Amino acid sequence: MHTHRFLVTGGKKLEGQIKVSGSKNAALPIIAASLLTDEPVTLTNVPDIADIATMEHILHFLGVETSVEGDTMKINPKAVANVEIEHELVSKLRASILFLGPLLARNKEVRLAFPGGCVIGKRPVDAHLMAFEELGAEVLEDGDILHIKCDKLVGAKFTMTEASVTATENAIMAAVLAKGDTVIRLAACEPHVQDLCNFLNSMGAKITGIGTHKLKIKGVKKLKGTKYRITSDYLEAGTLVIAAAITGGSVDILDVNPNHLDIFWQKLREVGVIFELGEDMVRVLPSPELKAIRLQTAVFPSFPTDLQAPFATLLTQAKGTSFIFETLFDGRLQYLYELQKMGLEPRIINPYQAEITGPTKLIGASVSSCDLRAGAAVVLAALAAEGETEISNVYYIDRGYERLDEKLNSIGASIKRIK
Ligand code: EPU
Repeated sequence: MHTHRFLVTGGKKLEGQIKVSGSKNAALPIIAASLLTDEPVTLTNVPDIADIATMEHILHFLGVETSVEGDTMKINPKAVANVEIEHELVSKLRASILFLGPLLARNKEVRLAFPGGCVIGKRPVDAHLMAFEELGAEVLEDGDILHIKCDKLVGAKFTMTEASVTATENAIMAAVLAKGDTVIRLAACEPHVQDLCNFLNSMGAKITGIGTHKLKIKGVKKLKGTKYRITSDYLEAGTLVIAAAITGGSVDILDVNPNHLDIFWQKLREVGVIFELGEDMVRVLPSPELKAIRLQTAVFPSFPTDLQAPFATLLTQAKGTSFIFETLFDGRLQYLYELQKMGLEPRIINPYQAEITGPTKLIGASVSSCDLRAGAAVVLAALAAEGETEISNVYYIDRGYERLDEKLNSIGASIKRIK
């Protein structure tokens, strides 16, 4: 974990062309799912971010060889050790929980230190464990260790306790090699869940219903190696769109799948942002005036929680009072306290709801990045602010955005990284 800071000089209009990287939240489960075969897997469009490096460390810890060249990662899962994944690795990355499904399917047993709390809210693992039990596994109490065992996994029909993204991904990864058929209802269907399913099908899995809340999986005996391109990151795309809009710039954002962001486009139109959608790109143009709206998050295809903080930052520049309702996480309005230091006067009603009245003249200040998406929000605010903003805890931003400073600088921003 590094202690880099960003020094952002605000008020620069962004202009030019920029390409979105591969999706973090697709790459994480796909790397874990590579352990479901013993043949080589080649992934392309893998983002160069800290969370992916941690996933790679865990693969090495399990005795799996990897190599990375540019955005290509080669994984050779010939042998996978049956060892406890230690707390030091798990505590760096909650998504390490994604190894449960593949290791249970592959080794019939998995032991992983209990993933700790998280800055963006309490996140129980019950939904994950319930799915494994439905598929015939036994969850054992073992102090701070999650210990799950099975003789074999058997297909089953069940409903998730909630449409949890990583729990659905774990259920899918455990079910693809189970004996017989599985039906998962209330499955999460975010674009990254869809990408995991497409990846598994490219290895020979039989998953249908992809993109819906009801997945059907026909268990197969074996999965083969594959070469697969990770889908582009719709959350990064949304963040870059807001960067262009909040600075009144003209930017072409490339490698965007417009279907991943339906409600986001609707909300942008409602706010009054001018943009044109192409087949795999979006052009953001200067907008004469922005209007306040109501923004409520929910599971896909509703408005993504991961874009709530970035979008609310745009709303600081909109005329009138916007209402923000974060329905998923109880810790995801923290960035409002940082924006307060820059001159915003939000009305924080409770951990889920707030009102923002704009347009607010943002002024550079010393702020912190409290989590990945809150970090993106303060960068966006800094781009629009008058003067210089110093952002600490940039580590969180580097966990999930590939070189955000360099990318934004390439279209006219002024962000200095202080090491
Ligand atoms: N939740 C609900 N209702 C639902 C589903 C979830 O209230 O129907 C609540 C949960 O109780 C929990 C929260 O929403 O408090 C998130 O739940 P989930 O289990 O879906 O989160 P996750 O699987 O741990 C993934 C992403 C997160 C993203 C969430 C929500 C990965 C590796 N992580 O986490 O990504 O915020 O889904 O979409 O895919 C990020 O990229 O910054 C990030 C944190």
